[in-house]
Amino acid sequence: MAEIAIRSIVKTFTDRTRGREITALDTVSLNIGDHDFVCLLGPSGCGKSTLLNMIAGFEAPSSGRIEVGGTLVEKPGADRGVVFQQPTLMPWLTVADNVAFHLKLKGVGRTERRARAQHFIDLVGLTGFEGHYPSELSGGMNQRVGIARALLMNPRVILMDEPFAALDAQTKLEMQEELVAIWQRIRCTIVFVTHSVDEALVLGNRIAVMTRRPGRIRDYFDFDMPRPRDITSPAFNDAKRRVLALIREEAGSSRKAA
Ligand SMILES: Nc1ncnc2c1ncn2[C@@H]1O[C@H](COP(=O)(O)OP(=O)(O)OP(=O)(O)O)[C@@H](O)[C@H]1O
Ligand SMILES: [Mg+2]
Repeated sequence: MAEIAIRSIVKTFTDRTRGREITALDTVSLNIGDHDFVCLLGPSGCGKSTLLNMIAGFEAPSSGRIEVGGTLVEKPGADRGVVFQQPTLMPWLTVADNVAFHLKLKGVGRTERRARAQHFIDLVGLTGFEGHYPSELSGGMNQRVGIARALLMNPRVILMDEPFAALDAQTKLEMQEELVAIWQRIRCTIVFVTHSVDEALVLGNRIAVMTRRPGRIRDYFDFDMPRPRDITSPAFNDAKRRVLALIREEAGSSRKAA
C-alpha cells in the first residue's frame, strides 16, 4: 500500500474577477511509498503548491482523492508536517517556544516541552540558540526552526514547498545535506517541491516532473544514485540531461499548442 496515494486529482479554481475557471491540476495520480523522498519538479504555476496543499489538507480536490497511510485526507493533521518557503515563525517566541508551539497547544507542561524541543533543535544544528528570537537569526536558521517544528510532531509525512528557495547557495547546500541526513535518520516520507533540477536530483530518490498548467505528471522515476551525491559526476549529469530534455520537450509542446 502506498504511504501517499494520489488518485485522479483534478483541481479547478474559480476566478470570480474574470468570470472563468482555471484548471490548476488535471488528473494527477501518484503513488508515494513509505520512506520515499519525492521531489516534485515543474514550471511556475503548474500546480505544485496546490497539490502539496491538498496532501496537507488545506485545500480540497475538485475531484479525485488523496490518502495518507490508508486514510482519506479531509483536513490538516499531525501525521503531516508542513514546511513553507517562508518559515512562518512567531516573532514574539524564542526558538525553543516556536519549535514546541504545538505541544503548548496540546497542554504539555513546560519541562517536557523544553526536553522534546531540545532534541529537534540539536538535530537541525541550532544547539545554543534555544533562547534566541527569529529576528536574531539568519534566513537559514529560521528555516531550520521551521523544520524542527515540523519534525517535533513526529509526522509520518513531511511536505516541503520550496523551503530553501530564499537561501544563498552555500546555506542551501548545507541545508540540503542536513535534510538528507535527517530523512535517513528518522525514516519519514518527504514530498519536496522545487523549481530546481539540481535540487531535485541532490535530494530525491524519486522524481516527479510535472507539465505546464494544467499540471499533469509528465514523468515519475526512481533516482537511486548513492549519497552523498556528486553533482559534477557523469551519473548526476546524465540524470540532469534527461530531466532537462523532458522540461524542454514540455516547453516546446506548449509553444506549439499556443
Ligand atoms: N486560491 C487560488 N485561487 C485561484 N487560483 C489559484 C489559487 N491557488 C492557485 N491558483 C492558480 O492555480 C495555478 C497553480 O498554482 P500553484 O501555486 O499551485 O503553482 P506552483 O506550481 O506552486 O507555482 P510556483 O512554482 O510559482 O510556486 C496557478 O495558475 C494559480 O494562479
Ligand atoms: Mg508554489
